[in-house]
Amino acid sequence: MRLERSTWTEVEAYLERSTGILIPLGSTEQHGPGGLIGTDALVAEGIACRAASHGDGILVAPVIAYTPAQFNLAFPGTVSLRAGTFARVIEDVVDSLAGSGFRAFYFLNGHGANAAPLRSACHDIHQRRALANPPVPPLRFRLKSWWELPETDALRRRYYGAGEGMHATPSEISITRALSRVPQTERTTAHWSPLSAEQLRDRAGDAHEDAHAHRAAFPDGRVGSNPALSSAAHGKALLAVAAREVAADFRRFVEEEPGP
Ligand code: NI
Repeated sequence: MRLERSTWTEVEAYLERSTGILIPLGSTEQHGPGGLIGTDALVAEGIACRAASHGDGILVAPVIAYTPAQFNLAFPGTVSLRAGTFARVIEDVVDSLAGSGFRAFYFLNGHGANAAPLRSACHDIHQRRALANPPVPPLRFRLKSWWELPETDALRRRYYGAGEGMHATPSEISITRALSRVPQTERTTAHWSPLSAEQLRDRAGDAHEDAHAHRAAFPDGRVGSNPALSSAAHGKALLAVAAREVAADFRRFVEEEPGP
């Protein structure tokens, strides 16, 4: 069930059964010469909607596609929110939905740089609600990046090994190929080199430098990935596994919720 395709009466009926909601998080940033600008948003939304199709127990909110991505601003088409702006967006979305009665917020993430500011935003929401007078019900949050789902992670490693890299990865580009038009990967075939262990360690969680240094370090936008390995068939398989894992993880998360 998708929020933007539901009526308020359908949402009211859903809230009788569940107070959980799944919010996909993406980005609007370059994904190498062959990848789509909206890759992270398309992938998170695609997995979320596929998970929701496993039954009527999952309500999916519209994807949040504008997020922090300053390190890619030197590439045309990238849009980045400041971390504080992103936190306000999260806060307003959560407050609105909490006002409707939602209590369990599952963020399905498609962009590594969202994790730190999302956790910071959730920290501040918890603090504000803990100190509210009169008291307000507590909320619960879960952040899951799709590539951390164990079976999905194993599959992408089996398909791509070191060629998965960190950005414009063949796994995410495979999923966009399964979901939408086929990006041109030919230009990315040449000059592929894996990241060193040191680079992988230092850049974990999208801990990149400023936009100009980032483009100088990674001139075509990829970060250690070989998207030429991507295929729509891989994307279909990755989507199916990830959707199944998200549906199960969402249900476990919501079932932990105390009754109204
Ligand atoms: Ni991405």
